[in-house]
Amino acid sequence: MESFIKLLLNNKLWAAEKVSQNPNYFQNLAKTQTPETLWIGCSDSRVPANEVIGAQPGEVFVHRNVANLVVHTDINMLSVLQFAVEELKVKDVIVCGHYGCGGVKASLGHKHLGILNKWLRNIKDVYRLHEVEFAGNLTEEQRVNKLVELNVKEQVTNLAKTSIIQKAWKYTDGPHLHGWVYGLEDGILKQVFDMPPGTAIDPIYVYEDL
Ligand code: CO
Repeated sequence: MESFIKLLLNNKLWAAEKVSQNPNYFQNLAKTQTPETLWIGCSDSRVPANEVIGAQPGEVFVHRNVANLVVHTDINMLSVLQFAVEELKVKDVIVCGHYGCGGVKASLGHKHLGILNKWLRNIKDVYRLHEVEFAGNLTEEQRVNKLVELNVKEQVTNLAKTSIIQKAWKYTDGPHLHGWVYGLEDGILKQVFDMPPGTAIDPIYVYEDL
C-alpha cells in the first residue's frame, strides 16, 4: 500500500476512535483553541511535539523547523510567535532541541547543502560564539550534543531579543521561556535553560519605547 493511502486510512480509524470515546469530541475542539504553550521544535519526525509531552489536540501551539531555530528574519516563526503571545496569550514558550540533531550535526560539517547552508549558518554562529568550550577532547557525538544544548540556549535568548517578547514582559506577566532537549534514546526531556518573564538581557538588545 502506498504511504499516503495508509495515512488516510489511519485518519479514518483515529477519527472514529475519538468519536466513539466522545461523540462531541470534534465539535468541542472546533469551537475554539486555548493552548497555554507554544512549542518551537525541530522538524525531525522522531520528535512529535504533542506526543512527547502527552498533549491533546488544542493544548499546544506548534512551530517546527530544521534544528528549532529562532531567526529574526523568519516571518513564519515571528508570525507564530506574535499570534501565540499576543492573541492566544500562552504562558510558556518552549524551544525544544534534541540530541543527535541532523541539522546541528550538518552545521559542524563542511558539506555544501544548497539553501540549507544559509539556515545552518545560524548554528555555525552559535558554535563560533562558544568555540572555546569545544577545545577539549570530545567525541563527534559529544560535540554534536554540546552544540545541541548551546543552540537551544541561544534560540531562547533570541526569543527574548524580539520586541514581541519584550513587549509582553513589559505589559503582562508572561510568557516564561524554556529551553529543553529531548533524548531520542530514552524519550526524556531535559531542561537546559530558563528565562522567567522579565529576565534581564544584554542591554544592546533592549527596546525602550515599546
Ligand atoms: Co533535529
